[in-house]
Amino acid sequence: MSQLLSGQVALVTGAAAGIGRATAQAFAREGIKVVVADLDAAGGEATAELIRAAGGQARFIRCDVTRDAEVEALVAATVEAYGRLDYAFNNAGIEIEQGKLADGKESEFDAIMGVNVKGVWLCMKHQIPVMLAQGGGAIVNTASVAGLGAAPKMSIYAASKHAVIGLTKSAAVEYAKKKVRINAVCPAVIDTDMFRRAYEADPKKAEFAAAMHPVGRVGKVEEIAAAVLYLCSDNAGFTTGIALPVDGGHTAL
Ligand SMILES: NC(=O)c1ccc[n+]([C@@H]2O[C@H](COP(=O)([O-])OP(=O)(O)OC[C@H]3O[C@@H](n4cnc5c(N)ncnc54)[C@H](O)[C@@H]3O)[C@@H](O)[C@H]2O)c1
Repeated sequence: MSQLLSGQVALVTGAAAGIGRATAQAFAREGIKVVVADLDAAGGEATAELIRAAGGQARFIRCDVTRDAEVEALVAATVEAYGRLDYAFNNAGIEIEQGKLADGKESEFDAIMGVNVKGVWLCMKHQIPVMLAQGGGAIVNTASVAGLGAAPKMSIYAASKHAVIGLTKSAAVEYAKKKVRINAVCPAVIDTDMFRRAYEADPKKAEFAAAMHPVGRVGKVEEIAAAVLYLCSDNAGFTTGIALPVDGGHTAL
C-alpha cells in the first residue's frame, strides 16, 4: 500500500513519455487525479488518455517548464481543475551533450540548465505557495545518479542534476516545519524509449549499461514510479531533503 489518499491531486511534468508517464499512471492507479504536463502535446494527451481508459482521472496541460508564465499558469490550471495540489513530480529533463567538457557548446549548457534546473526551480516556486496555503504537500524532483557523482561526457547534465539536489535540499529545509516535504529521486540507467533507441542499435552498449548496475540490468520506469509514490506517501512522513538513488546498486560501487 502506498498510503496515498484517493481523491488527492498530483502534477507530473515530463509526463508524455518514460518515467513521467509511468509515474502519472501509478498515481492514477491509487485514485489520484493527475495533471499530465509536457511540451509534447501528442505524447501528453496519450498519457492522459491511457489513464482515463484505465478508469482514472487525468488531463493534459501543455507547458514549457522553462517559462515562468507557463509554469504559473500550469499550477493555477491544476488548482482550477481539481481544487488542490497534493503531490508534484518535477521530472521534465533533457540530455543532449555529445562529448567531453571542452567540446561543449554554450547552447547545450543553456538548454540543459534551462530545463533541468530552471524548470525544477520554477515548478517548486509556483507549487510551494499552493501547498503552504492548503496545509501541506509533497514534492519529488528528478535528479539522477549523475547528480551524485561524475558523468563522463555528460558534465553539463551532471552539473544540472547536482543543482537539482541543491534546490531540493535547500527548499526541504526552508519548508520542513510547514508540512511540505521535498525530496529527489536519482535513477541510474532506466529502460525508456530513448534508452532503447540508443542501445538496441548497439548491443555492446546495452551490455555495458547493464554491467554498470550490480543487479546486472537497467532499471524499469515502474521502479522509479514506485519510489516517487513512496516519497509522496505518509510512509515517508519523516523523510525530507533526501536524494534517493534508485540504481541497482550503482552508487554503492
Ligand atoms: N532514462 C534514464 O535513464 C534516466 C536516468 C536518470 C535520470 N533521468 C531523468 O528522468 C527524467 C525523465 O527522463 P526520461 O528518461 O523519462 O526521458 P523522456 O525523454 O522520455 O522524458 C522527458 C520528458 O520531458 C519533456 N520535456 C523536455 N523539455 C521540456 C520542457 N521544457 N517543458 C516540459 N516538458 C519537457 C519531454 O517532452 C519528455 O516527454 C529526466 O529528468 C531525466 O534527466 C532519466
